[in-house]
Amino acid sequence: MKILITGGAGFIGSHVVREFVCKYPEYQIFNLDALTYAGNLSNLKDIECRNNYTFVKGDISEESFVNDFFNEHRFEGVIHLAAESHVDRSITDPLRFARTNILGTMTLLNAFKNLWRNNWLNKRFYHISTDEVYGTLGETGFFTETTAYNPNSPYSASKAGSDHFVRAYGETYGLPYVMSNCSNNYGPNHFPEKLIPLFINNIIYNKSLPVYGNGNYTRDWLYVKDHAQAIDLIFHKGENQETYNIGGFNEWKNIDLVKLLCKLMDGKLGRPIGTSEKLITFVKDRPGHDLRYAIDASKINKKLGWRPSVTFEEGLNKTIDWYLQNEEWLENVTSGEYQRYYEEQYESGN
Ligand code: NAD
Ligand code: DAU
Repeated sequence: MKILITGGAGFIGSHVVREFVCKYPEYQIFNLDALTYAGNLSNLKDIECRNNYTFVKGDISEESFVNDFFNEHRFEGVIHLAAESHVDRSITDPLRFARTNILGTMTLLNAFKNLWRNNWLNKRFYHISTDEVYGTLGETGFFTETTAYNPNSPYSASKAGSDHFVRAYGETYGLPYVMSNCSNNYGPNHFPEKLIPLFINNIIYNKSLPVYGNGNYTRDWLYVKDHAQAIDLIFHKGENQETYNIGGFNEWKNIDLVKLLCKLMDGKLGRPIGTSEKLITFVKDRPGHDLRYAIDASKINKKLGWRPSVTFEEGLNKTIDWYLQNEEWLENVTSGEYQRYYEEQYESGN
């Protein structure tokens, strides 16, 4: 079976590629990635020489390239993760998000449809989405698979758009798809623009920890390897035309999470407890900031038997240890372009 994984050089994609390459030596895994600032081939150093793995650099929104690529390799399965993924960047450059997330997804769907033309037996298009498409919750309640879409940021609107097109291709052309909407991931190889890796990096270098608004925003955190295992399960056992919500059963207010991170980091860095907390700085809020996300993951639990394998404390400890042991990775991704991004996002007073 030839499987195309898009966005495999990114954070979640690299864990998914590794899971599939190592677990299924009989599959041929192709990783298509444009290597944007978020794509990093060093995430896959340990498996790059495996003979069931091929990397191809390319842009999912380039129609003629994508069509030729599908015709050449005749992928029977697609696991689609490539996306622009950072909410703050979507606020400054929304068009890029529409191009990659909506047009890119449509380009893949179209190539897959034109390749198989109703010959759908044993074919599957798996679209990876996010809980942010549901918008925001108040203090109570959970997102289920039937919660109405109500996206608030250009990022979540572009992901919602892509989800709608996947569903529409299923309804209109009978294209066999599965979709999952997951909560916030964390773990090794997470690009340090997102809360947890950004703050780990800043604590290491004694830089301030910019908490947006009052810090009373809530997210539901899931260890990335548990997400990769859920993706494996859904790809193989999920039902066509179905959506599965994936979550960590693990809600944290940002400020409480940041304080826990500070305490763990002080311990690991041999600094007196309380040192890192002094770096917390409340800064201007993110526009349109969603108050709370929380996933009801009972469908995937009941239908496919999935639940997270790692507690938050275990996952966070593993994550911090990985960053402390991979300082070179962190230095490489925080040099050059990252410095300009950081300055514009945090130091320009916008
Ligand atoms: P990421 O930003 O770390 O990686 C995205 C990857 O896509 C990068 O390797 C990048 O080079 C590639 N890419 C971007 N534009 C491309 C293009 N035009 N053509 C080909 N490749 C391109 O993202 P992530 O956090 O790993 O997220 C992966 C997927 O999971 C996304 O679809 C995201 O919406 C979804 N998701 C993420 C989270 C999370 O917490 N990170 C949670 C739920 C869902
Ligand atoms: O819920 C799933 C989504 O989780 C994914 O679809 C997105 O791709 C992923 O980026 C993530 O989105 P968030 O916006 O929730 O993640 P982020 O790490 O950017 O922010 C987490 C929370 O922390 C959010 O409430 C904003 C806050 N925050 C973030 C940053 C970067 C801060 O307070 N300060 C910061 O510097």
